[in-house]
Amino acid sequence: DKGGHKHFMAKEIAEQPAVIAQALAHYLGEGGDTITLPGAGVDFSAVNRLTMVACGTAYYACLTAKYWFEQVARLPVEVDIASEFRYREPPISEGTLALFVSQSGETADTLAALRYCKGKADSIVSVVNVAESSIARESDLALPILAGVEVGVASTKAFTCQLSVLLMLALRAAHDRGLLEDDALADQISALRSLPALLNAALDQEDTIRRAAQNLSEARDVLFLGRGQMYPMALEGALKLKEISYIHAEAYASGELKHGPIALIDQNMPVVVLAPRDALFDKTVSNMQEVLARKGKVVLISDQAGLDEASDGLWQSVAMPACPDLLAPIIYAVPAQLLAYHAAVAKGTDADQPRNLAKSVTVE
Ligand code: F6R
Repeated sequence: DKGGHKHFMAKEIAEQPAVIAQALAHYLGEGGDTITLPGAGVDFSAVNRLTMVACGTAYYACLTAKYWFEQVARLPVEVDIASEFRYREPPISEGTLALFVSQSGETADTLAALRYCKGKADSIVSVVNVAESSIARESDLALPILAGVEVGVASTKAFTCQLSVLLMLALRAAHDRGLLEDDALADQISALRSLPALLNAALDQEDTIRRAAQNLSEARDVLFLGRGQMYPMALEGALKLKEISYIHAEAYASGELKHGPIALIDQNMPVVVLAPRDALFDKTVSNMQEVLARKGKVVLISDQAGLDEASDGLWQSVAMPACPDLLAPIIYAVPAQLLAYHAAVAKGTDADQPRNLAKSVTVE
């Protein structure tokens, strides 16, 4: 049942405020100010390194979480693609927590990477949507993301639920490691509780995003740029666009622009810049200006404060709600998804069932 939407993907994008509210309630309780993990949980004071492994969109969730675990929990984090990790046979040092992220819980490479870590990592934790999946069963601790069944092949609500659970885990780690006092944790938790309302505000921009997507749908190639936590969102935006609209898209960390990809810039390649008005904003804007100076067409996704400062010469702009820094990736995932979805609709491709792709990749 598509619930009145044209595609499951549209329904699943729209469901994000509700499913994230459920995931928050599961881990936070109603009105509580602690983060509760199932079973015996994890004691992060005994962990000194985190190794995160996944594929595709779930890998981008890990890349995002790296910023959180490093920043708030001061834990060294390594993130790897499962199909690379498993064959490299990397050494696993003492005190390593191995964390696997998978919507289906059945992805062959991720499962093989998990099995490789058995007996080597101190503990094996997974973040999954399917609670009775192989990856969940073979973990010491499985954390459900509670996104509900995801039908669209392109992951949307599972991605933002993965991010939400990973952010809660990073905050819990910071608390366990004595880096976040009780009252600071309570403040972060009350910020988390604003996620559903912020996501609704992001979804309210759908008409503007649709117009930008219709313009993008005519391009052959699109470049996505982001810095810091927005770099993984740029990667996710590019993956979503290529997989459902078949438009070639690439993502770069903004600071890498001048190390090569700037040679591609001309009026035929739109550039989508993801940049909330945070501490890195000015740096990203200066990269954006390098694009504009070469007649590149820029779609800037920022908040009102950012758009007020950097609106000159833009092709399109999309205003996201202002939000606490740590929440920005979860909010900016929405325009990344909607750009891809509406570009696919404009091109007439099947957003729910893109060619050559399977929902669950159980073969390597
Ligand atoms: C992209 C997408 C895929 C999956 C990847 C991992 O939209 O859905 O990249 O994220 O195949 O799948 P899971 O999370 O089931 O391990």
